Amino acid sequence: MTWQGTLPNPAATHALGRRLGHAAQAGWVVSLGGPLGSGKTTLAQGIAEGLGVAERLTSPTFVFESRYKGRLVLHHFDLYRFGDAPPEEELIEIGLMEALCGDGLCVIEWADRLAAGVLADCLRLTFAHAPTGRVVAVESAGAQYQPLVEELHREHLGD
Ligand SMILES: Nc1ncnc2c1ncn2[C@@H]1O[C@H](COP(=O)(O)OP(=O)(O)OP(=O)(O)O)[C@@H](O)[C@H]1O
Ligand SMILES: [Mg+2]
Repeated sequence: MTWQGTLPNPAATHALGRRLGHAAQAGWVVSLGGPLGSGKTTLAQGIAEGLGVAERLTSPTFVFESRYKGRLVLHHFDLYRFGDAPPEEELIEIGLMEALCGDGLCVIEWADRLAAGVLADCLRLTFAHAPTGRVVAVESAGAQYQPLVEELHREHLGD
């Protein structure tokens, strides 16, 4: 199931993230895709706030993963520097495969770099630039994410 919405400004992107941070459960994986500057880090910052992380989430430049402590451990990955479909050994090396099996919350920017099947179950967000700010598609690829996407549908009926 997919919900598509418009995000007219950065505050709206942040608020959607906060919402996901509140709803997130242990072991959830959030995949963030979309072109440069489309709002992925802004959303991740909202997730951190929704999880009760005290420090500000920043976009890591020299590391692939940053970890934050909130209601759940937040693993923030940014795969920008990877080419397409990095081999599994590299994903093991940066700690992604382990984090995906853990009981924290994985938030992965540039998840579109990954080969199909690496993220079997995830909540997949895809951003795009729009004249009105950004549009985002939120897809539940996995049963545990479906109630959240249904809620987004219900709340925005008639938008
Ligand atoms: N809904 C929105 N409407 C307009 N601007 C937005 C919106 N959401 C975020 N932005 C702005 O877009 C810019 C880029 O945002 P952000 O850094 O979150 O994107 P990103 O996808 O993480 O970029 P990168 O691809 O470099 O990682 C920021 O200035 C941010 O405030
Ligand atoms: Mg970013």
